Amino acid sequence: MVLRIRKYGDPVLEAKCDPVTGFNTAELDELAANMFETMYAHKGVGLAAPQVGLSTRLTVIDVSAGVDESQKMVLVNPEILHKEGIQIGEEGCLSVPGFREDVKRAMKTTVRAQNTKGETFEVTGEELLARALQHEIDHLNGILFLKHLSMLKRDLIRRKIRKLVKAGEWN
Ligand code: NI
Repeated sequence: MVLRIRKYGDPVLEAKCDPVTGFNTAELDELAANMFETMYAHKGVGLAAPQVGLSTRLTVIDVSAGVDESQKMVLVNPEILHKEGIQIGEEGCLSVPGFREDVKRAMKTTVRAQNTKGETFEVTGEELLARALQHEIDHLNGILFLKHLSMLKRDLIRRKIRKLVKAGEWN
């Protein structure tokens, strides 16, 4: 099922999410499956639970955008263990559609997470995967990529979004 994506301005996007405590449930598997479906429907490479209105520490990532099944990742309660290097590249967010900006991120990162069964695993990503991991884990802490921009750029985007809200084009 394709879920509704919450957009910038919705308070759920700026709240710190609660850890998942119940594993091996049909609900958790269904949520992950619905989040993949929603992400693919919008051509994204990552989606975090608050973006579908749930303040819970779960995110899905597929940097192949549906091309390579082996790249599908469900991360429950993810934590960044290590970051190194720097990359600057264009980033967007399904909750801030239509806006893409250069964001500085670590080039490489190692994350520890659980799967929907509660088993712990680690994943190390570079380049796009590292960027996606950092972006999605930010979401779980109530942080949007806009927060990494200069105040000037952020204010410009905020003003444009305010106009879209007024015009009824930001739902
Ligand atoms: Ni995002």
